[in-house]
Amino acid sequence: MPSRVACVFLGGLLAASVACPMCARAQAPDEWITMNKDYSSQRYVDLDQITPANVGSLKEVCEVRINDPAVAVFTSGLLMVGRTIYVNTLRATYAIDAASCDLRWRYQIAFKRPEHGVASRGSGYGDGKIFFGTVDGQLIALDAETGKPLWDVENAIGHGENFISAPIAWGGKVFLGIGVSDNGIRGRFMAFDATTGKELWRWYTIPLGNEPGAQSWGNKPSVPPAGGGFWASASLDPMTGEVFAPVANPFPDYLAAVRPGANLYTNSIVSLNISNGKMNWYHQGVPHDQHDWDLGTSPTLYRGRSGKNMLAIAGKDGTVLGIDRDSKELVFRTPGTTRANDGPIGANPVLVCPGTLGGAQWNGTSYNPDTGTLYTGMVDWCWYYGEVPNPADPAHPIPTPVWNFAAPPRGQITAIDGESGDILWQYRAAGPVLAGLVPTKSGLLFAGDVRGNLLALDARTGAVLDRLDAGGALNNGLISYAVDGTQYVAAVVGGVALNTAGVAGPLRVSIFGLHGNDTPKIVRLVPLPRPGSTRAEQAAKEYDGVCADCHGVNAAGGTYPTLERQTQLAGNPEALKAFLAYVPPPMPRLYPGLLSDADVALIAEHLRVLLTPPSAKQEPPAAQQNSPPRP
Ligand code: HEC
Repeated sequence: MPSRVACVFLGGLLAASVACPMCARAQAPDEWITMNKDYSSQRYVDLDQITPANVGSLKEVCEVRINDPAVAVFTSGLLMVGRTIYVNTLRATYAIDAASCDLRWRYQIAFKRPEHGVASRGSGYGDGKIFFGTVDGQLIALDAETGKPLWDVENAIGHGENFISAPIAWGGKVFLGIGVSDNGIRGRFMAFDATTGKELWRWYTIPLGNEPGAQSWGNKPSVPPAGGGFWASASLDPMTGEVFAPVANPFPDYLAAVRPGANLYTNSIVSLNISNGKMNWYHQGVPHDQHDWDLGTSPTLYRGRSGKNMLAIAGKDGTVLGIDRDSKELVFRTPGTTRANDGPIGANPVLVCPGTLGGAQWNGTSYNPDTGTLYTGMVDWCWYYGEVPNPADPAHPIPTPVWNFAAPPRGQITAIDGESGDILWQYRAAGPVLAGLVPTKSGLLFAGDVRGNLLALDARTGAVLDRLDAGGALNNGLISYAVDGTQYVAAVVGGVALNTAGVAGPLRVSIFGLHGNDTPKIVRLVPLPRPGSTRAEQAAKEYDGVCADCHGVNAAGGTYPTLERQTQLAGNPEALKAFLAYVPPPMPRLYPGLLSDADVALIAEHLRVLLTPPSAKQEPPAAQQNSPPRP
């Protein structure tokens, strides 16, 4: 079947090259038209101006300070097209000059429904357009040159649904899947018409009824099959007409007893037919997952050194899968971080590696085709998994993971032979490695960690050739490219991700080059208006955007501890500032840097609402009640 698809597809391509504007402009070799550079997601850069010999003089050239109120999670990837960088927060899309950091345009999203989620992983580029999904389920197309909106469609309307991952655009289509598995959605991957936004096809990640694979899902009618969302962009092979989508975990995440079987097609890499969305084949990385070990990274497509047609994908289970795309066989499964105790969860707590927030997240593998080497960056963090009582159903205690701050998260970068899966070297990073790795033609590997280290490694040995303090966490986007013959490295810096031990810092895109200096140009953007119309709403939005992701919207605890014991911070901005300024890791350093005094004052006000028992709640003083909304 794949060969027939290829013929049909190539016919289309030849015809299209005459008429279709999509094909009018070829991608320049160092442009980033997807989060992972191109459709193969190799993230390899064919540039050699920055070399192992001169990388020591790399310095920051300029940075643009984003300054979106009530936004702390900054986990966008980067695009670079022409001489423009595109970056997203959940509230806006920015176009920035790739050499000077000057703002070209900014597009503020108008939310139409309640937002589910706090992050955007970025945009995709195609045919002069920028495409991105939003946390309230819109898919938006902008003119890449001007930022002018072209179309906007509302797709995700179900409870808990949204778009987090970045779309990819190819051949007049935009490809994107919905999240979030952990909200109990039923995942689907979709193709849209790039000119109109019309949905062309959809593929559900969880088969029901008579659909193939459905028999292996659960047998409890009270628990509808759910999960299988998307955190990462797809990859695509124009020659075979396949789009490769990485499917996330089943739901409920840990209570696996209610969903017997393999839970297809969760935690799988699936090959779908570009034209109609029918599934060609799949490989499931973790069947019947009990640890929240999704495949949340983009797959890398490559030819091994002997010509083998390969796909590699890294998972939260801490392994890299190497699959032969011709035979569909698993060729290797190589660890990229500590692995221990991956068996079923029992009553007694056991230290499992990686834990829920370990392994490969955001970014998976990169590939250097010159040397046949795969690289992967991971989070090295073990958590305890045990059972807690289930008041609703005492016979079935609930398996639950608990973070382990006794050994806080570290990072690991691993170089792997792309055909055998053999480990070539490993580098232990000071903090979680979430940023995408960038191998270059000159034999460098650019990397970063959430401790703010921008690293240049020797791609052959893993030796650190240069380490720069970026002044904030590197939480995702990291690219290299050239403008007017000069090679640059650009990174998304600052803010937080759910991963702890980060150094936060103000949100920015920083550009580095060999001609940088110690006083880089800083472009400060005028802040967007604060979300919320009353002061109380603004306070809630600020708390929700900065603290809720980790401590829960009600401050009753989320991924990290409850704030209920901390009533002294409620309504007391001075105490909150002191706490935030001196709190040691793993809690990130949010003030000063990321948060302004005004932001902290709002958070303290909202903590008063959240942490004061209902009986003791008092009306705020009149002055506060009447203060006008802040710009
Ligand atoms: C990236 C995740 C993250 C974010 C964002 C975050 N925190 Fe934390 N916070 C933590 C972690 C992790 C701890 C636990 C530290 C420990 O146990 O050593 C913590 C601990 C705390 C504690 C101490 C709780 C206790 O009783 O021990 C307070 C208070 C707190 N955070 C307040 C805040 C506030 C207010 C915000 C928003 C301005 C915030 N945090 C944002 C991760 C986060």
